[in-house]
Order: sequence, then structure tokens, then C-alpha cells
Amino acid sequence: MIKNLSSYKCQNCNFYYSKWAGQCTECGSWSSIEKDDSLTKGPIKKVFSGKKGKSIELQTLLSEEVEPPRLLTNMSEFDRVLGGGLVPASAILLSGDPGIGKSTLLLQVATLVADQGSSVIYISGEEAPAQIRMRARRLEKEQSLLKIASETNLRDILTTLDHEKVDLLILDSIQTIYADHIESSPGSVGQVRACVLELTNFAKKKGISIIFVGHVTKDGQIAGPKLVEHMVDTVLHFEGERGVHFRILRAIKNRFGASDEIGVFEMTGKGLQEVRNPSELFLSERNTGNNGSVVFSAMEGTRPVLVEIQALVAPSSLATPRRTVVGWDSARLSMVIAILDARCGRSFLGKDVYLNVAGGMRILEPAADLAVAAALMSATEEIILKENTVVFGELSLSGALRQVTQSDARIKEAKKLGFTSIQLPSQSKVSTHTNIELKEYDSILDFIDKNIKTS
Ligand code: TYD
Ligand code: MG
Repeated sequence: MIKNLSSYKCQNCNFYYSKWAGQCTECGSWSSIEKDDSLTKGPIKKVFSGKKGKSIELQTLLSEEVEPPRLLTNMSEFDRVLGGGLVPASAILLSGDPGIGKSTLLLQVATLVADQGSSVIYISGEEAPAQIRMRARRLEKEQSLLKIASETNLRDILTTLDHEKVDLLILDSIQTIYADHIESSPGSVGQVRACVLELTNFAKKKGISIIFVGHVTKDGQIAGPKLVEHMVDTVLHFEGERGVHFRILRAIKNRFGASDEIGVFEMTGKGLQEVRNPSELFLSERNTGNNGSVVFSAMEGTRPVLVEIQALVAPSSLATPRRTVVGWDSARLSMVIAILDARCGRSFLGKDVYLNVAGGMRILEPAADLAVAAALMSATEEIILKENTVVFGELSLSGALRQVTQSDARIKEAKKLGFTSIQLPSQSKVSTHTNIELKEYDSILDFIDKNIKTS
């Protein structure tokens, strides 16, 4: 007997309830609990009644199939983030804060692909055709052969696409599209899930690439289910700071290439411009001769990028001093401060600490530890680090320095931009470099002794 099986399910986290509720107690999402008949009507009953399924054919890994060629957009930053262009029969989710430039980026990509002779359709649920045309005019792309539509009904979209030859389909945004066989309102978990599922199946069947725009909620999650991230092949995040013109396109998940790859763009009056040399851009407004400023050589995917890390340390009037971080992990900052205190006797008690990665860049690597520690020490002791120096290295809790990956690429990038000295952990695996001085340190204490000389 399967009498007591609960028949309501959270569409976000698959938790079962015996009765309906407004909010899921497991994952906290609202309006995600819906009636679920699968347990009482579906597969379980069939298994219980003893009916067998059909047997599936098992295969080997060897195959004669050749991979279909990728569709290049000719926007090299975008192609690189995708791992070398769009893969046919794949689904991509592009997420980002409102107003960051998702629609602008995709309209540019769409017109570039359409201008190469591919068939591209851009469907917007947010803007009327006149608005899309206005944007295209601003981007000087009004002559493009791109096809546009303004529609939100999934059934109408699929019916239309069935008769069209499509290479690339763009849907802006997935939260505005609705499937009329599902009762909940557009943007709800059930709707988003059903629409993504239908559209990705359609894309796989017809061999087209599809890009969805997904909105981000206040707490930074892709609105609707986290589930959508699992349903698509690639998740890209478009990010940037308010008031800064630079935008970073970051691959969070990529079934067809390296994740963590970034593309850098600048928002101009005529849309997004690719930034071919991000290091130059991030260091362009650097003011040498200030304390608390250190240049760090970061690895973003396959590419090294130089960024300036700035620190400010000031006496605090608060009982709990402020620790403010922009562009880095605040837990990691607390760790570096604790190491400086416990292993080097440099206390930040009663001092406010501000840390900023200049240019709106977000650093995720522990390789920035040494650069952060150097910036903090330089700021608190008011000592300017030697000019033309780049720093990288990971700190362990003992205060020892650990080598980081791809040191050679980091050093080469520094050299290319005219830096003459590198401060790095000892025993780093590096090949010989000419015209650049490598200074190696065993521990953070060693680094401070040699660079921050105070009483
Ligand atoms: P948009 O692409 O509409 O953002 P999203 O789709 O992520 O919500 O971008 C909107 C912002 O970009 C808006 O503030 C205006 C600005 N913008 C420019 O600065 N230059 C341009 O050429 C375009 C088209 C937009
Ligand atoms: Mg938009």
C-alpha cells in the first residue's frame, strides 16, 4: 500500500510535504511547493505492479563520431569564455544584475553571428521590437539580418521556431516566458523549470545553440531554481561594480571548456567594447608612490591578469572595528589579519581595515594572500613597497608561504607590462626568466623583515 505518500513537492529542492505550504522549510524558497502525483500515479506504481521497462543498449567509449564545428561569434572575449565558440545543440545561461548589460551583450553577439550568414533569432519578453531596434541603432547594427520578436508564450515560440531554420536562439529573459499548461505565474520555480526543459530539449533535437538570460535576486542567486544551472551546459555570469565601466564575463560552469575563464569588456556609449589587454586597463589609473598599494598577478582561467590591491588602515572609534572588502573574500581577509597578528606580532586591534581590488575586478584565488598581507603591512606601517614590483603567493596558517599554480605565466605577464621585480614563495616551480628579478621568501615574517623595515 502506498497510501501515506505525501503528494506535495518543493520544485526547488525536491522535499516532500503532505500538505501545501507557502514557503519551503528546507530551502526557504517561496511559492515553490506544488502538487506532485508522480509517486501515487507514476513510476512507483508501475514498479509495484511488476511491469518491466525496456532494456537499454550499452555502448563503449570508442566512437567514430566527429564533433560538430563550433560557431564562432567573432567577439573573441565571448568565444574564449565559452571555450572556443558556441557548441551546436547546447544551452547557455547568462546571469547578472539588472542593468549590467546582458541584453546589450547578447544583441551584439546576435548581430555579429547573423552578419556571418547564420540564422539568429532574438526573442525578448521584456522589450518591444521598437526598443530592440533603438538599442541596435545605438550599437550601429540596424542593418543586421538578425530576426527579432517580442513574445512570452512558450507554445507560440516553439510553434514559430519549428518552421524556421535557426542556428542561434536568444531568449531574454527566462523569467518572462511562460508555459500555458502550468498554472503558476511567469518567473515561478515551476514555470522557469518547465520552460528551460522544453527549450533545451528543443535545442538538442534541432541542433541549435540557445542562450537564456536569467535574472539575479538581491542575494546574488539566479532567480528561480538553482536547478536551472544544472539543466544547462554552460553558466556565464556578467558582473561589474556600479559606477565602474568595466564588465567581466565569467564562466561559472562549462561542459565544453575551462570554467573560471573571464572576458573583460568596457561599457561605452556604443555598447560593449572588448578589452584585449585587461592588465593594462586595471593598472591604468594606478597611483604609484602611495602606501597600501600592491600589484598582484592573478590567473583568471587560462589568462594572467595584473590588478592593484589597495589597503587602508585607520584608527577605529568602534567597539568592533570595521573590516570592509570589495572584490575579495572577507573570510580570507580575516584569516590574513589573524596570521599577521599571531605569526608576525602585527596587530590590527582597534583599527578599521579597508581592502579594495581596483577596477571592479573580483579575485577568487588564495594566491592573492601575500599581496593582501603586503598591502595591509604597507598601509599600517606607511611604507611604500618598491616600485615596479609584482607579488603573489598563498599563506598557510603557520605563516609559511606556499607556491601557487602557473607562476611562469604570472611572471611573463608582469614582464610584458614593464615590471622588473617579482616577490614570490620560495621553491616556486619557475623556469629561468631574464631581465626580471625574482625574490623568494619562506614565510610572511621573512617578507616583512626584508620589505617593511620598522622599529
Ligand atoms: P542592458 O543591456 O539593458 O542591461 P540588462 O539587460 O542586464 O538589464 O544595459 C543597460 C545599461 O547599459 C543602461 O544603463 C544603459 C547602458 N548602455 C550603455 O551605456 N551604452 C550602450 O550602448 C547601451 C546599449 C546601453
Ligand atoms: Mg535586459
